[in-house]
Amino acid sequence: MDSLLIKGGVPLHGEVAISGAKNAVLPIMAATLLTAEPCSIRGVPNLSDVRFMGQILTWLGAQVRFDGDTIRVHAKKIKGAGDYDLIRKMRGSICIMGPLLGRLKTATVSLPGGCVIGARPINLHLKGFQALGAKVVIESGYARASAKRLVGSAMFLGGRAGSTVLGTANVMMAAALAEGVTLIESAACEPEVVDLANFLNAMGARITGAGSPTVTITGVKALHGADHEVIPDRIEAATYAIAAAVTNGEVTLRGARAEHMHAVLDKLTSSGVKVERRGTGLTVRRNGRLKPVDITTLPYSGFPTDAQAQMMALMTLTPGISIITERIFESRFMHVSELARLGADIEIEGPSAIVKGGKPLSGAPVMASDLRASAALIIAGLAARGTTRVNRVYHIDRGYENIDGKLRRLGARIERVEET
Ligand code: EPU
Repeated sequence: MDSLLIKGGVPLHGEVAISGAKNAVLPIMAATLLTAEPCSIRGVPNLSDVRFMGQILTWLGAQVRFDGDTIRVHAKKIKGAGDYDLIRKMRGSICIMGPLLGRLKTATVSLPGGCVIGARPINLHLKGFQALGAKVVIESGYARASAKRLVGSAMFLGGRAGSTVLGTANVMMAAALAEGVTLIESAACEPEVVDLANFLNAMGARITGAGSPTVTITGVKALHGADHEVIPDRIEAATYAIAAAVTNGEVTLRGARAEHMHAVLDKLTSSGVKVERRGTGLTVRRNGRLKPVDITTLPYSGFPTDAQAQMMALMTLTPGISIITERIFESRFMHVSELARLGADIEIEGPSAIVKGGKPLSGAPVMASDLRASAALIIAGLAARGTTRVNRVYHIDRGYENIDGKLRRLGARIERVEET
């Protein structure tokens, strides 16, 4: 297992190319199961989650070819059941269920289970499939959905925390091949859902309203192959923006789309960071002293939960008190105790973390518990005095393409070493 060794205190400078969005490419890869024709997806990030989704598609019978940052998938003949252990390993793989149900009218996948950030149920996905006429059973650790025919209907997909991203994606994909019209109310509005809808429409689906809480899907008989370029990763871009701010540097995020990042850029601006559109990207630098900000995570277009940990790392270095409230996942504060090892002063009160910022951080060995927690620890390490060792970096390789290489190019002193 690898670790990252970071010698902090170097301001980041230069330009970083933002990769394609992990959370867009995973459902788009799953959507290729909806057609027997070949599809190609461009701008695909080299991530372990993406390779893993490739393995799942292969297991289901598709031909999958990685060619640089393009993936070609040909799902000529597929089966409707995913391998128990393969699917269980990555929660995002639940999004094969909608395409399998849409194309084969039957889908069996292992229940993904919870993870360190929360329980992560799939009741809303299943509610949507049932609304399309599928019979759903949970048995021996599997969720099975099957139907003689899928028929479009109106459904409300809001839950405890608001909309569901992969639930919306799953129902959209199944409904693309249902008979008649499906109306999803309280649909997720995330740019990744819009990107998936664009890909499905390029395949011949008839989807309108993606990006708004009401999505309409008019079913078609069959979908055809398509070629698509994935949107840039707004969370990767946010992570490098925060890293630039925390180190008092200046970084241009090549390809970052400001229109997908309003909530993050607004909070960065309020905390004393200057963000300018430059060419095909954004340039980020500190604008004087950092100021504390309060943040509440919400479904899009609110502040993304996937950037909460990184923002907390910034707030630990900001003089004053910031309150960070997590409203999407029940336990997404695993980074708090690790940030404390670096000297951060953070108290958890229910769904909120009270960050008493401004004390200098000093490097220490820390443990990555999940993808975004790892990113927060790297950011804190970049600002800390001395050396920070981030263990279990396989978490970060799930969602950040070559993060150590990209940070090194920006001047960071970071190296990948074998875990001790
Ligand atoms: N929820 C339910 N029932 C469901 C589905 C979700 O109650 O059937 C709840 C969840 O427990 C949570 C909330 O709804 O409280 C939102 O969960 P959502 O379904 O939107 O999450 P997801 O689709 O499983 C995706 C991303 C996550 C990201 C969330 C929220 C992918 C592969 N994953 O997960 O990404 O945090 O949306 O934006 O797209 C990450 O990249 O680090 C990551 C965890």
